[in-house]
Amino acid sequence: MTLNKVPDVTFRTRVRDESIDGPNPFRWEDKTSADYFAGKRVVLFSLPGAFTPTCSTYQLPDFEKLYAEFQAQGIDEIYCISVNDAFVMNAWGKSQNLENVKLIPDGSGEFTRKMGMLVAKDNLGFGMRSWRYAAIINDGKIEKMFEEEGFSDNCETDPYGQSSPQNILDHLKSAQSQAA
Ligand code: BEZ
Repeated sequence: MTLNKVPDVTFRTRVRDESIDGPNPFRWEDKTSADYFAGKRVVLFSLPGAFTPTCSTYQLPDFEKLYAEFQAQGIDEIYCISVNDAFVMNAWGKSQNLENVKLIPDGSGEFTRKMGMLVAKDNLGFGMRSWRYAAIINDGKIEKMFEEEGFSDNCETDPYGQSSPQNILDHLKSAQSQAA
C-alpha cells in the first residue's frame, strides 16, 4: 500500500498548564494531523517503543543533534512518533532533554495502523507497535518514505539504517544538489 497523504487522526497529548494547582499541572490537549503537518515540511520518524535502546541511544539523540542540518535542508520540524501513550512519551522526552525534536503519542496505534506500519511485537511482550520507518512530509503529503527492511510481525531482528537521520540527510542533500 502506498499512501500519498498522512491519515487524519486525533492525538491525545498531555501539556503543562501552570493554571493547574498541585503536583501534576498537566491537562489533555487534542492535536490533529493537520496541527502537526499542515503548511510545513517535516521529517517524521517512527519506532517500536519509547525508552528502547537503539531509539534512546542513537536515533532520537542523533535527530536532536542534527536538527540545524535538517533546517538547512528546508525541514521545519522533526517529529518522533511511537505507539505509546502521552504519559510515556512525555517522560521519555524529559529524560532525553529534548529541545528540538517533538514527540507524538500514538497510544491507540491509529495513525500507525492507517500508515500501514502497525506490526505485532508480542515476541517482546510489546503488543502492537510501529515498524521502524521515517518519512519526509510536505503539507501532509508523503514526499519520501524510508522503511526498514523485513516488515513483519514478531520480527526477531530490529533493522536500523534507512530511517537513521544520517540516511535522510544524505537524501535531502543529494536531492538539493540535483535541483541546483
Ligand atoms: C531498540 O531500540 O534497541 C529496541 C527496540 C525494540 C525492541 C527492543 C529493542
